[in-house]
Amino acid sequence: MTGLPPTAVPADSSEPPLPYADRPVATAPGHWVLARAGKRVLRPGGAALSTAMLGHARLAGADVVELAPGLGRTAAEVIAAAPASYTAVDRDPDAARRVAAVVGDDGTVRQGEAASTGLPDASADVVIGEAMLSMQSDKAKAAIAAEAARMLRPGGRYAIHELGVVPDDIDDARYTELRKDLARAIHVNARPMTAAAWRQLLEGAGLVVEWVDTAPMALLKLSRNLHDEGLGGFARIARNVLTDAELRRRVMLMRRTFKRYEHDMMGIALVAHKPE
Ligand SMILES: C[S@@+](CC[C@H](N)C(=O)[O-])C[C@H]1O[C@@H](n2cnc3c(N)ncnc32)[C@H](O)[C@@H]1O
Repeated sequence: MTGLPPTAVPADSSEPPLPYADRPVATAPGHWVLARAGKRVLRPGGAALSTAMLGHARLAGADVVELAPGLGRTAAEVIAAAPASYTAVDRDPDAARRVAAVVGDDGTVRQGEAASTGLPDASADVVIGEAMLSMQSDKAKAAIAAEAARMLRPGGRYAIHELGVVPDDIDDARYTELRKDLARAIHVNARPMTAAAWRQLLEGAGLVVEWVDTAPMALLKLSRNLHDEGLGGFARIARNVLTDAELRRRVMLMRRTFKRYEHDMMGIALVAHKPE
């Protein structure tokens, strides 16, 4: 954590660079490598699971806070659902600038830490966070969930979409191997959790889980990419990967790792509310 208060990011008409654009492909965090390849949906369960989650979060007329919006794909979906307000907080300055460009006058974007947003108590009806808790330590996960609960009004909803592991009693050795291989492939110390542990995290923040769904972890599968990125987006990704050997090597390493653990991993989304 920086300890600094989150700073507001003005909307800019020029397209800001991708986060970590100056980092070599071989060592940049996996999600930003995929963004460089052209991917825009960077969450494990894909766009359909996000849309289902947003439906259960009930966005129309709500004051919405999004933690870690990344490239602003969900931001656009939230704004299309006519919330009363949209505020986003991402710690990456380039991500924050890109989201500011997506939301324009329809929202406010701050660069800052999800665990210390500086936003007032009981000021949100919905808090959203996707593909961001999985990359935190247990302590940071709990701090972010507590921050979400603090910002919610009674009855308000916290909606998350993260990386899950199955089964709930996954073998310790298999889990350790998965985590190590994943860290090697994505250069992020990801700590995915079982469905039971994700539920406990939200309950530990004083929330009541009201909806859970899962989808295959198919971030680099052909059918998922055609669906999530569209034909044009898919063609852009294919072109970038085919014409850049270094990018191809890194994407293929991630793909092999995801394939090796495809039956151990899943995308999981939960919506939990703060009791009245
Ligand atoms: C994998 S991307 C996901 C982006 C987006 N939510 C999506 O699903 O497409 C992770 C994002 O989380 C942000 N992030 C990670 N940890 C954060 C934290 N503690 N506070 C704020 N932002 C964070 C990163 O900067 C990045 O934009």
